Amino acid sequence: MSTTDPAFPALHGRPDQGWINDPNGCIKVDGVHHLFFQFNPDAPIHGNIHWGHATSTDLVRWTQQPIALFPREGTADAAGAWSGVVAFDGDMPTAFYTGIAESEHASQVMTATSDRTLLEWQQESHGILGMPDEPGIGAVRDPFLFTFNSVQYAIQGAGYENGTPAILLYRCHSMTNWEYLGPLVTGASGIARDWAPAEIWECPQLFEVDEQWILMLSLWNRDDHALDRVVYLSGELSEGGAGLKFLPTAGGLVDSGNAFYAPQVVAGTKAEPRTLMWGWSWEKSRPEASIHAAGWAGVLTYARQLSFLNGALISEPVAEVTSLRAGILSDGAGGADVPVNERAFEVVAAGAAELVMVDGDTQTVVASVNAGRILVDGSLIEIFGADASSATERAYPTATSRFEIHAPESTRVTVHRLAL
Ligand code: FRU
Repeated sequence: MSTTDPAFPALHGRPDQGWINDPNGCIKVDGVHHLFFQFNPDAPIHGNIHWGHATSTDLVRWTQQPIALFPREGTADAAGAWSGVVAFDGDMPTAFYTGIAESEHASQVMTATSDRTLLEWQQESHGILGMPDEPGIGAVRDPFLFTFNSVQYAIQGAGYENGTPAILLYRCHSMTNWEYLGPLVTGASGIARDWAPAEIWECPQLFEVDEQWILMLSLWNRDDHALDRVVYLSGELSEGGAGLKFLPTAGGLVDSGNAFYAPQVVAGTKAEPRTLMWGWSWEKSRPEASIHAAGWAGVLTYARQLSFLNGALISEPVAEVTSLRAGILSDGAGGADVPVNERAFEVVAAGAAELVMVDGDTQTVVASVNAGRILVDGSLIEIFGADASSATERAYPTATSRFEIHAPESTRVTVHRLAL
């Protein structure tokens, strides 16, 4: 059904049906990239969350694999297998995820193991860790693992009942024996409060890129249940405090668009030296009736490569994305409006240019760059400025709409068709 939906992002390798949110457990094993994601196979709404699974050898052509993790009645993940990561426990690929039993205020860190194909998972019946002994803590979720000075640590996102967000720190004596050390950072004051106002910090990612420690936070606010922004704090990580101290020195937006949330970052390794990131793009402004008619909701972005340059975190599509270019649709100076009758295309603009959705008499500017790239796949629009900005937006094509590129004559614009 969704393949006839002009809004479906067909190049992004999501299942045809169902709901997806956060990327989880991104890892490269034996030359294969594995991408898991929060998945409700039965309906385009958040609920009954499983871990879906897709694999790729080139980061752009994805194959759907069997569902990896299931919510199981009578266990601590009965109400959902929420977000987490995959890491090795010795030789054993292990998923560390958030088990939700009934209420999201009583989560556990759960584990599951697989062989190196990552195709069949055994979920443990009990969690490795419950709620921490931290006064006033409300929600805790989204385990993330990292090492510092060769010592294994974990963090989780959290929020106090008084509305202050926090990152909780754990020392991993073994991969499944975690000791709670205390809050690593809270949003009570300073740069963290100014840059990352939220009631819960979800999906924390702590990693070093280009010799800079970055703490990435997805900002959840109860008020209107609106998913907010994703920000990063750059700072100094050192031994001290409860075990480690993170001192934020600056902050910024990870993506300045309206439809980007809960990214997962994989720090560079020998197997994959780049620092990679995927984000979840949610159906920002699509009416609920259209979502139900289409039967799908949510998509993960193209893989993005992170770098830290001149004090700022930069993300751009991995080089492999250009392998989707499948012919030039138009190329030349701007001036006249260029219609694009394709569902997936890329605009490369040497100067100012706008992507406009035209439907009858209505024209809506859905993306603009001052030199840069605009990647369109159905309703998903990923914008990368030559000024190192990035933004994820949504705009929903209909049977009667079309895209146009508007640019002044001084701008050279090349439009590529994109295809798998
Ligand atoms: C972020 C999030 C996570 C949680 C998951 C549930 O979008 O709320 O905090 O683990 O989604 O699906």
